[in-house]
Amino acid sequence: MAQTFDVVVIGGGPGGYVAAIRAAQLGLKTACVDEWQGADGRPALGGACTNVGCIPSKALLQSSENFERAGHHFADHGVRVKGLELDLAQMLKRKDKVVKASNDGVVYLFKKNKIAFFHGRGSFVKAGADGCEIAVKGAQNETLTAKNVIVATGSNPRALPGAAFDEKLILSNTGALEIPEVPKRLGVIGAGVIGLEMGSVWRRLGSEVTILEALPVFLGTADEQIAKEAWKIFAMQGLKIDLGVKITGVKAKKDVAVDYADAQGKAQSAAFDRLIVSIGRVPNTSGLNAEGVGLKLDERGFIAVDENCRTNLPNVWAIGDVVRGPMLAHKAEEEGAAVAERIAGRRPHVDFNTIPWVIYTAPEIAWVGKTEQQLKAEGLEYRAGTFPFSANARARALGDTSGMVKFLADAKTDAVLGVHIMGAFASELVAEAVVAMEFRSSSEDIGIICHAHPSLSEAMKDAALAVDKRALNI
Ligand code: FAD
Ligand code: NAI
Repeated sequence: MAQTFDVVVIGGGPGGYVAAIRAAQLGLKTACVDEWQGADGRPALGGACTNVGCIPSKALLQSSENFERAGHHFADHGVRVKGLELDLAQMLKRKDKVVKASNDGVVYLFKKNKIAFFHGRGSFVKAGADGCEIAVKGAQNETLTAKNVIVATGSNPRALPGAAFDEKLILSNTGALEIPEVPKRLGVIGAGVIGLEMGSVWRRLGSEVTILEALPVFLGTADEQIAKEAWKIFAMQGLKIDLGVKITGVKAKKDVAVDYADAQGKAQSAAFDRLIVSIGRVPNTSGLNAEGVGLKLDERGFIAVDENCRTNLPNVWAIGDVVRGPMLAHKAEEEGAAVAERIAGRRPHVDFNTIPWVIYTAPEIAWVGKTEQQLKAEGLEYRAGTFPFSANARARALGDTSGMVKFLADAKTDAVLGVHIMGAFASELVAEAVVAMEFRSSSEDIGIICHAHPSLSEAMKDAALAVDKRALNI
């Protein structure tokens, strides 16, 4: 007999598991279906983010950063390291342990909130105004009926035409996180977030990294001033980034041969020991039987939703990477919680203007709100204030003075329109900017708040004051 639920969530990534937790907290009888399998064949809750995305990449970024600091920066602090060695197997093992702890964390939260978990692929059998029937197939085989369904099936890496991922030579994010020995020559296609983060990891561990990017500009979504500064820093670190290329062929045999036209249109070829392809991700709707029940997709294959994540089918919702908007774990989480609340009769709102972005390179790059080029394009009058970390005492004590904070504020009202940070712990500092924008604060509000001394956050205060040309420390 079918088990009946108020809410069935398909997908146990950050969108799905947060939706399930919030629905259960609100007293709804909730189930989550997820098909991810760990290397041991057991369920591995947490989706792409936990298993092959945010969490393992940040574990390797931290480990490789430690290795680089020990090799190149400790001596400056008077710490001499003799016989420094890389134990890559241990580094990868630690990363797997961090992932497993996060998988277990979701299992714990499901138990705590009395969420029924089904391991297998969920697909629609029928969907109507009186509810949906979902078949679970895989490790468990069940039929579930649900008053509401939340689809949170995430995304998959986009392959280059004619160069399928084999995860040995041609790697998606999955293979890029488990290369068993440091490749001498590592090629990366796409200078986006994954390309820069994974390129940084393997460069720090000893690879010669070449990144081939189709667009003629570097990090076009970031503020131009920050992107230009980042470009110089990454080049100094040894990341070779070629812009404006057109890949014409990829052949994997013993190594990977990549043919491309460079920015001048000249034919080039390069050989790599491994190639990471990070050219974006595509929504994952395979196996859902979307067509069978008439669940509408848009022209790019995303599940079509309105601003509240409602699909064209009654009581069927979709969130996270499988719908429009930035492919970020925290965006998926916000949508998940909001949909659960909407099902429970509340009226939440997700503000896309205050979703922060972070690139976990060194220095980190983080921002929220508009870039200077967007403000110019929109014809908005603004004032900008910047403050370099080289003038911040805590950054000097850390030995990490690269980068800056930049505030953009409305010329008339002084409302904060965007904040752009490049520097140590930019991922943490950006939270203050998100609060400022959510609360519609002015740059002056941030400038007159007391910030601890010495702290990196003082650069936020100084940059905010710089909007009115009254920074204190420069
Ligand atoms: P997913 O996390 O993809 O989860 C979907 C789940 O649904 C999976 O477990 C999948 O197996 C399951 N599933 C799919 N179809 C079915 C089905 N029919 N039945 C049952 N289960 C199904 N974002 C950040 O914000 N910060 C970061 O630092 C960051 N780093 C990243 C690093 C990498 C290398 C990558 C690849 C991504 C990174 N992201 C990061 C993006 C982030 O991982 C995604 O935005 C996020 O995982 C989306 O969450 P989701 O819940 O929509 O989908
Ligand atoms: P991306 O969209 O960040 O970057 C892809 C890059 O590849 C772009 O610069 C694009 O111009 C380029 N490109 C596309 N086709 C190409 C081609 N044929 N040849 C050369 N270059 C080409 O996508 P990425 O890095 O794959 O990451 C996928 C998603 O995962 C991102 O949307 C991001 O939101 C998310 N992510 C987030 C992270 C974070 O928040 N720190 C970390 C890693 C991923």
